[in-house]
Amino acid sequence: MAKPFYITTPIYYVNDRPHIGHTYTTVLADVSARFHRMMGDDVAFLTGTDEHGQKVEKAATARGITPKALADEVVANYTELWKRMDITHFRFIRTTDDDHRKVVQGRFQQLLDSGDIYKSTYKGLYSVSDEAFVTEIQAKELQAQGLAHQLVELEEETYNFRLSRYETPLLEYFAAHPDFVQPDFRFNEVKRFVEGGLQDLSISRTSINWGIPVPGDEQHVVYVWFDALLNYLTGAPEGAWPPDLQIVGKDILRFHAVYWPAFLMAMGLELPKTILAHGWWLMGDDKMSKSRGNVVRPDTLLKFGNDALRFYFMRDMQVGHDRSFSLEGFMDRLNADLANGLGNLAARSITMIQKYRDGVVPDFAAQDALDRELDTQGKGLVTQFVAKAKADDFHGALDGLWIHLRALDGYIVKAEPWRLAKDEINNAKLDAVLAQLYRSLRATALLITPVMPTLAQSLWESLGIAGKVVEQSLSGFVYDAPAGFNVGDPKPLFNRIDKEAEMKAIEDTVVPMPPIAESSTEASPLDVPELRPIIDYDTFAQTDLRVGQILSAEAVPKSKKLIKMTVDLGFEQRTILGGIAAGYSPEELIGRKVVVVANLAPRALMGIESHGMLLAASDNASKPYLIAPPEDAKPGFIVK
Ligand code: MSP
Repeated sequence: MAKPFYITTPIYYVNDRPHIGHTYTTVLADVSARFHRMMGDDVAFLTGTDEHGQKVEKAATARGITPKALADEVVANYTELWKRMDITHFRFIRTTDDDHRKVVQGRFQQLLDSGDIYKSTYKGLYSVSDEAFVTEIQAKELQAQGLAHQLVELEEETYNFRLSRYETPLLEYFAAHPDFVQPDFRFNEVKRFVEGGLQDLSISRTSINWGIPVPGDEQHVVYVWFDALLNYLTGAPEGAWPPDLQIVGKDILRFHAVYWPAFLMAMGLELPKTILAHGWWLMGDDKMSKSRGNVVRPDTLLKFGNDALRFYFMRDMQVGHDRSFSLEGFMDRLNADLANGLGNLAARSITMIQKYRDGVVPDFAAQDALDRELDTQGKGLVTQFVAKAKADDFHGALDGLWIHLRALDGYIVKAEPWRLAKDEINNAKLDAVLAQLYRSLRATALLITPVMPTLAQSLWESLGIAGKVVEQSLSGFVYDAPAGFNVGDPKPLFNRIDKEAEMKAIEDTVVPMPPIAESSTEASPLDVPELRPIIDYDTFAQTDLRVGQILSAEAVPKSKKLIKMTVDLGFEQRTILGGIAAGYSPEELIGRKVVVVANLAPRALMGIESHGMLLAASDNASKPYLIAPPEDAKPGFIVK
């Protein structure tokens, strides 16, 4: 028996209800799963929830309930949503499932036995605000920034995974498997990270209770990422290993493309074939996230049917890139492509076959150059779509399909079937036009099925074809539809949206929504040091503050906090390192205007010279918030 095509999504944290970002990840996986089923693969599609760890523990405490009760509540939100979205997973895995605990403990023991996991006492400086041990270099940085009071001496026992042992094997594997991570530019980031050197990874905690106990040493719970990543093993059906496609967001790529393969190597298991990292849905320029209060929940968009949302996700987002979500864009897309484009074309074509040929589909025989052109295009349609879909480029696949649908609209305009129908002499040409439209619509119904299963079925039935379109084979599909079919009645595929009325109604409900679980911004006491000694004006005036604009940004290898940026100061460009990784990802910094201390003496951090400093606000417990000058302030402006 052929190996099942095993496809996974990340498992979602249960400290938040699903928003459209999570929904996108799952829909992308579902579209791929459905596509592979239609290609004849036996598909095993796994999704689920990540339920352990401090975040969930804290969120539950804030609500006065147990972590498991919180998880149960949020899991119901997920499973309900996946039903409404027509998601076709075979199992919804929870990290609190019994079989998962056994797998995690068993694998932990295996790695203890093989020496890949070892216990050590970690003695060192601990940053209270980051909840992490810091290296000597990081400690010096904090001291230089006047933040020494954040550091405490701490001694903790911890189990470590020998990640350093896998630096070379990983690099060798990457070199031998050029398609391991998609897209390429993300793969390059991963390679650079590993080339920067890997340190052993602490994979147990004694400060957390909510987790899977380390076998034989119950003071410790297994680190949440070791626990979470192993869900893919627990959930793998017999004979399905390794995963063929693991879909993840770009924010969690490092865990999947570095730690996860290293764990698997240590366990002696085969690595996944492809890890696909997609981009983010943004709100304006910001990541959609609960703590920013700018999330869009899928519920409100689902009033247009799950097909609409699935289609919008696939059609508008180029896998790998970020994309801004807009309600207007959402409705424009549906009106243009589904109500007007495909909906109109199908209704017109079927009505013409009913009117001019009593509902019977005629034979196709090209009569002129135009017929031949459309025939060639139509015949190439399925091959091209399938090639793109195989590479998970549903955006490109749908784009090609809609180009063809627009060409068909043009074909009708040029051929004028209503004029042809007036004289029998044009019979053969009218037959060609009607048959051509029919063949393309039949192919379209099939191709859109993984994306819009319900709408595709309506089209299938309107075309008068029996059975379920989801059961059709894409690999064996022949474009030349047999003549003599009787079309059905054209069903409306998608009703045009009254955009203005809907905009008003939806905007009132979608943004922002209050977070349900975590009380992250709730009145935590201000944690700031005492006011520094008074200085006179002249001392202050020596500080030259300027407006800058970030041109590029990248994480500094081996540093959790530092981001290296190129900043335009109007009169020159500078390299500046900022300890802001807790608040920003490099991608979201690009283009941002910032306030720079421009006359600060350069100094080296982690071996890189930083010339200047960015102003940011925070207290000891918060992440940094960059001070932003107004958008129209120019780089180089003096701030005074
Ligand atoms: N629990 C971890 C994953 C463990 S996998 C072994 C986690 N969970 S999450 O709920 O925070 O995120 C799950 C997925 O949702 C990630 O792939 C993430 O990229 C995706 N999204 C969350 N917000 C998103 C957007 N705004 N846009 C697109 N996808 C984003 O990380």
